[in-house]
Amino acid sequence: MVSKILKSVITVLFLIYYGILDEVRSQAEDKIYLSNLDTQCLRCLCFAATGCNLTLGCVNGYCGPYKIGRIYWADAGKVILPEDDVDRSGAYEDCALSYQCAQKIIKNYLIKYARDCNNDGRVNCADYSMINFNGGYQCHPPLDRNEAGRKWLERYYSCYPRTPDSD
Ligand SMILES: *[C@@H]1O[C@H](CO)[C@@H](O)[C@H](O)[C@H]1NC(C)=O
Repeated sequence: MVSKILKSVITVLFLIYYGILDEVRSQAEDKIYLSNLDTQCLRCLCFAATGCNLTLGCVNGYCGPYKIGRIYWADAGKVILPEDDVDRSGAYEDCALSYQCAQKIIKNYLIKYARDCNNDGRVNCADYSMINFNGGYQCHPPLDRNEAGRKWLERYYSCYPRTPDSD
């Protein structure tokens, strides 16, 4: 009898212990953040990509309102919807098509590649916009070099008006 109770107590303690560890771990993950990657920036990166069109679907290998490609997704750590299986075909598409899940992909990618792409001495949303258009490895080429880039910039600045700090 006593040993049965003891067993349950130990089991419960175990569960609490690992529950707490999990909680601490997920809090630590939430604390990784980029300065300047705030709600407005995330929204404007979405706007720059597609006008933040949530019903675009997948077009030419790019999915969702942020136009996320499979390589970008993989590079960002293969974020998937809760309870999904990373090896399921469609896991990438379904995350990229979900606004919330896509934002996690974007965050991971930018945490990995954040840098001063326009050489203005700060790392902010304008740089993140360049990273998303150019890719993380070579983010420096100015966006106004081609038509797609000019359209991207136009949408970006219509969402994120230029201020002395935002460039
Ligand atoms: C979003 O994209 C779909 C598919 O191309 C299009 O039919 C729709 O008009 C777009 N929505 C907006 C708000 O632009």
